[in-house]
Amino acid sequence: MNMETDPFKMDALYKGAFAPIYPLIASQITYKIGVKEGICIDVGAGPASLSIAMAKITNLKIYAMDVKEEMCKAAERNITQAELSERIITVRGDVHHMPFPDNTADLVISRGSIPFWKDLKTAFKEIFRVLKPDGAAYVGGGFGSHLLKEKLKKGLNNEKNKSMENNFKIPKIDIDKLVKAVNKAGINNYILINDDSGLWVLIKKSID
Ligand SMILES: C[S@@+](CC[C@H](N)C(=O)[O-])C[C@H]1O[C@@H](n2cnc3c(N)ncnc32)[C@H](O)[C@@H]1O
Repeated sequence: MNMETDPFKMDALYKGAFAPIYPLIASQITYKIGVKEGICIDVGAGPASLSIAMAKITNLKIYAMDVKEEMCKAAERNITQAELSERIITVRGDVHHMPFPDNTADLVISRGSIPFWKDLKTAFKEIFRVLKPDGAAYVGGGFGSHLLKEKLKKGLNNEKNKSMENNFKIPKIDIDKLVKAVNKAGINNYILINDDSGLWVLIKKSID
């Protein structure tokens, strides 16, 4: 069982060594997109670390969606512990056919889930479909900063965390495949961010 398929290891890692990346990524999303109210969907939310960080700095109502039942249960526990049950709702759902009507979300976010999606074009079409006409999405992967990434790498190399590192095998996102999929999904208004914060696609549904 690898990292992605083991909710318990993932939950422990994301609440431990990875904890500092989520407030940083949440503030980057808020700064770059500026959506602080309305409906947000966190796709492939896992244990809901990013959803929780977003809820703490915005007034968004957040649907933490994950395809795995066990992941939703871990998210539920963390949301309750953070006393955010009224703001964050877990939803079991697959990015390829999201359980939301058209034009639901002001903001769609997703971190670290893309490498596991089977059909990127369909996934991006779905993300675009559930966005409101003036909605935006911030989808990709990364650690927020080079410094945090290096710190995490170092931490994972400690003997104590060796088993974690062995389980932490998330495939990299292929930039060409990503760009092709976004284009094939018919999305024109987007920018690719590929810097110290990670690799992200920032999508706006409206044409500015
Ligand atoms: C590496 S984890 C990232 C979790 C979380 N976003 C984070 O950054 O802490 C990837 C997550 O994507 C979920 N996932 C994989 N395929 C999915 C799909 N088709 N639809 C929705 N979620 C999916 C997995 O169950 C897992 O929880």
